[in-house]
Amino acid sequence: MTPEEIPLKSDATVSALLEENRIFHPPYDFKAKAFIKDASIYERARQDPQGFWAEWAGKLEWFKKWDKVLEWDVPYSKWFIGGKLNASYNCLDRHIKAGLGGKKAIIWEGEPEGEQKVLTYNEMYLAVNKLANVIKSLGVVKGDRVAIYMPMIPEAVVAMQACARVGAIHTVVFGGFSAEALKDRILDAQAKLLITADGGYRRGKLIPLKDISDEVVSQCPCVVHVLVVNRAGHPVNMQSGRDYWYHDLMEKAKVYCPPEPMDAEDILYILYTSGTTGKPKGIIHTTGGYMTGVAATTQWVFDLRADDIFWCTADIGWVTGHSYIVYGPMANGATQIMYEGSPDYPQRDRFWRIIERHRATILYTAPTAIRSFMKWGTQWPEQCDLSSLRLLGSVGEPINPEAWIWYYHYIGKEKCPIVDTWWQTETGCILISPLPGLTPLKPGSATRALPGIEAAVLSEDGKNIERGGGYLAITTPWPAMLRGIYGDADRYKETYWTKWKGTYFPGDGAKKDADGYLWLLGRVDDVIKVSGHRIGTMEVESALVDHPQVAEAAVVGISDEIKGQEIAAFVILKEGNPPGPEAEDMLKKHVVHKIGAIGRPKTIIFTAELPKTRSGKIMRRLLRDIAEGRALGDVTTLADAHVVETLKQKYESEGQT
Ligand code: WTA
Repeated sequence: MTPEEIPLKSDATVSALLEENRIFHPPYDFKAKAFIKDASIYERARQDPQGFWAEWAGKLEWFKKWDKVLEWDVPYSKWFIGGKLNASYNCLDRHIKAGLGGKKAIIWEGEPEGEQKVLTYNEMYLAVNKLANVIKSLGVVKGDRVAIYMPMIPEAVVAMQACARVGAIHTVVFGGFSAEALKDRILDAQAKLLITADGGYRRGKLIPLKDISDEVVSQCPCVVHVLVVNRAGHPVNMQSGRDYWYHDLMEKAKVYCPPEPMDAEDILYILYTSGTTGKPKGIIHTTGGYMTGVAATTQWVFDLRADDIFWCTADIGWVTGHSYIVYGPMANGATQIMYEGSPDYPQRDRFWRIIERHRATILYTAPTAIRSFMKWGTQWPEQCDLSSLRLLGSVGEPINPEAWIWYYHYIGKEKCPIVDTWWQTETGCILISPLPGLTPLKPGSATRALPGIEAAVLSEDGKNIERGGGYLAITTPWPAMLRGIYGDADRYKETYWTKWKGTYFPGDGAKKDADGYLWLLGRVDDVIKVSGHRIGTMEVESALVDHPQVAEAAVVGISDEIKGQEIAAFVILKEGNPPGPEAEDMLKKHVVHKIGAIGRPKTIIFTAELPKTRSGKIMRRLLRDIAEGRALGDVTTLADAHVVETLKQKYESEGQT
């Protein structure tokens, strides 16, 4: 803490702070020991971006060095061309060779209290090697796709690393997704093997992943085998010749599997994420550039040191779990905490107990979680010893200054910098974030682009906005950038590269202030963020119209104090189907069945018509205004303004404003 800062001690000072727009400088001690404390890194990277990234790539171990750093044939980039490496080798073998095999890799807690497991790098190495041999014995070869549908257990990390070891492409499907969502992803990726578990725990309940998988696999002819981890002792159906127990095959597996030398541009994984159509996009990440990006940014942004206990609370089903549990921290030989369940199980202090128990030094979580903690009250963290923490992180959605200050004050005890990290499934690694030993912080701003990354705020027609609001743009290629959308080259070009020539359009609104700081303002397309989880409004619409009683549906994101955004759906039922609470319940269940609980609309508003422009486009802004109970926007372009009036009155009469 710098001398000019007055320590915060009470809620009164918290609210004073909110009004002051104060800048938080890196604490003196933090800065003194920080990995990056010299701002010249930005300039160095700007002068020679390729040389800069090559230097960071060189910190990984390559079987063969690259011949050329970058080929940029808009919108396709290739990085470290001709280089050969293996991601699992870089996350495991390298540390063991350096004598770090005995170091803890994962400290795991299951949701049921008292359930704990520690895996050292040696143990992870053994498990990954054995599983690599197992999946090979099941017929998986380099380039094959493997779907992973698992709870947050160490075996999930082992499964991803084992795929990387043999050169198989993993596609992890979040364990909260429904059977239908799992099926779509398996079919799109044409996965040959599915790795799952009998179940996993979430808020005291068992999620029966194998039962869900059974519904799906029979409809996916591409899947030859299913490998099942016995996590919960939940009885499952095992189809002979197709399904195998993980522990049975692991017991017999050979202990070493040579890492497959992968081309830098060979695919490491595909991860599906929501876009503006009903169909999720399979985002492609390759090996060399991605590993360079995640390894470097883990080091810079989290200021990672050998003795840190790093805890990223994301699920491995999302990109944050891929980049900042499985690949970035492990490439750096970090000790990590991994937790299976919910933050309020069995009580609302679970996160703080975990931090206290394992002496976590870095916590990386989402604003939605922070807002829940705020709501639950300070008594929960106050009862725990959080003194081990030295750095806090935030990801997934804009963090509101109130939540930032609360996090800083009650969790970081005013001594931990907060890194507000902006990035996406597509970007692979963090692109905009403070460097904690260097960057003065403003609550609510992700500050500036990292070294080697060029971000700008542009107008619709591509003009640079030096001060003010517009669209976020990334103007130069970076190593961990997506290489495309699996099986859909046109969509790749259209989604990200048609707005401006040669410049990446992330789909976010942003503002630049007088100091050049970036303030991310959320999505400008039909993608919304519910509790930090990305979901396309069209996906929910497709799920709704899939119901036989639904004629038409329009879905919008509405603001929510805790979740950031919530889903509101406007539905036209086919004639003869009565609207009402029963229909609402039925449709919510239908969406959960099609997508999973994260797609469940908070509100369904039945209507006779949807407000459309003269050209037939649904007026989503107007729907949002209606759903949020605000005054109506400009209705002059409506085909029938009366419709909106009816809708509004109906909404208000139902008391949902
Ligand atoms: C949003 C998550 C503001 C943004 C890593 C982006 C953020 C989308 C931030 C990607 C942040 C992520 N501040 N907004 N620090 N981080 N976002 O693919 O809208 O699940 O486009 O990746 O999350 O979501 P995704």
